[in-house]
Amino acid sequence: MLSVITRTSLKPSLLGSRAFVSTWSNVPQGPPDAILGVTEAFKRDTDPKKMNLGVGAYRDDSGQPYVLSCVRKAEKILLDNRMDKEYAGITGVPAFTKAAGKLAYGDNSPLIQDNRLAITQSISGTGALRIGAAFLKEFYPHAKKVYVPNPTWGNHIPIMKHSGLELEKYTYFDKNTNGLNISGMLEDIKAAPKNSIVLLHACAHNPTGVDPTQGQWDEISQVVKERGHFVFFDMAYQGFASGDCDRDAYALRKFVSEGHPLVLSQSFAKNMGLYGERVGAFSVACADAEERARVESQLKILIRPMYSNPPIYGARIVDTVLNSPELKQEWLGEVKTMADRIITMRDKLRGHLENDFGSKKNWEHITNQIGMFCFSGLTPEQVDKLKDDWHVYLTRDGRISMAGISSGNVKYLAEAIHNVTKD
Ligand code: LMR
Repeated sequence: MLSVITRTSLKPSLLGSRAFVSTWSNVPQGPPDAILGVTEAFKRDTDPKKMNLGVGAYRDDSGQPYVLSCVRKAEKILLDNRMDKEYAGITGVPAFTKAAGKLAYGDNSPLIQDNRLAITQSISGTGALRIGAAFLKEFYPHAKKVYVPNPTWGNHIPIMKHSGLELEKYTYFDKNTNGLNISGMLEDIKAAPKNSIVLLHACAHNPTGVDPTQGQWDEISQVVKERGHFVFFDMAYQGFASGDCDRDAYALRKFVSEGHPLVLSQSFAKNMGLYGERVGAFSVACADAEERARVESQLKILIRPMYSNPPIYGARIVDTVLNSPELKQEWLGEVKTMADRIITMRDKLRGHLENDFGSKKNWEHITNQIGMFCFSGLTPEQVDKLKDDWHVYLTRDGRISMAGISSGNVKYLAEAIHNVTKD
């Protein structure tokens, strides 16, 4: 006799798996994200000595996430002001975008003075890149090929591809010196078809921690100009490279002063510690105010079906900090403190490797590189060993998030790195 299976006699898991098999059986298992997947693996590890040097997120010297004091004060002001929760406009909180533009381009930039900067709030730097790629795909009149450095931040590649832009790589990192291959970079930029889009990390290159010098930026600007290329600046770390926001904006401001056509993606995740608030901006340098208005109208049309309008809270924090002289001063000091702590960790890591563990390898690049990351030169196998034998987690390209190191664990990290590299 056929037994009747009622819904209630089926175990929920069987029901669940049947529904899954029938409808989604064609969905393949995807790999974990190259960066955020490291955090997932780290969280599963129960060893007390574990270290997460994967994601680029600042930690204080006791290894804890750090909320900036100026941010706490701004939050108090916002709370006391009992602000409403109405929608922002499509391009976000105007006081925020104005302040973000000034921070990047400088108060006296002609783009700001002449009202020539089209700017919109974005879902942090990733969202800014995504809006920018969509805008270029639709309106950039020339070839839709984007040249990105080799290597570049892993997420640049799918962001550009999702927007329908074609991707090419230009030489950037020199494996022999763990520094910049400036001649290779200039040659590749020269060889790219005229009017290509060139993506440049404005400062604190991710993942390599290798930036051009000011003189090299001048050379890059010249070659880009000769070829009529269009520049897409990604500035996710303003202040984090040198500790000085103006100094870190050198490349961007230089290119503006040379009259390059360009766009910019900005993030406040790192320099204001607003990771989860998702605050960023995307801007377009325009020829005049009339062009700016047209460009902004199109940015609105692109953004509206993506996410309608951006969240307001993080933007209000940035607005409050940047538009209060005292809080801004305090913030600049805190950015410098974060950058300096990372520099101290670089010195200590190299010192322990060379002096305490007697490593014979060349570790100069640990202190030569700048910003949040060290591109260590560790192989994927050595990275796996660090994880399996030492509970130290980093991305498989050997990138170390220096911000995750503290006085309490830097020696342990040096011991671990020495052990996996000594043979
Ligand atoms: C990183 O490179 O670790 C950060 O930019 C975080 C991210 O989203 O990848």
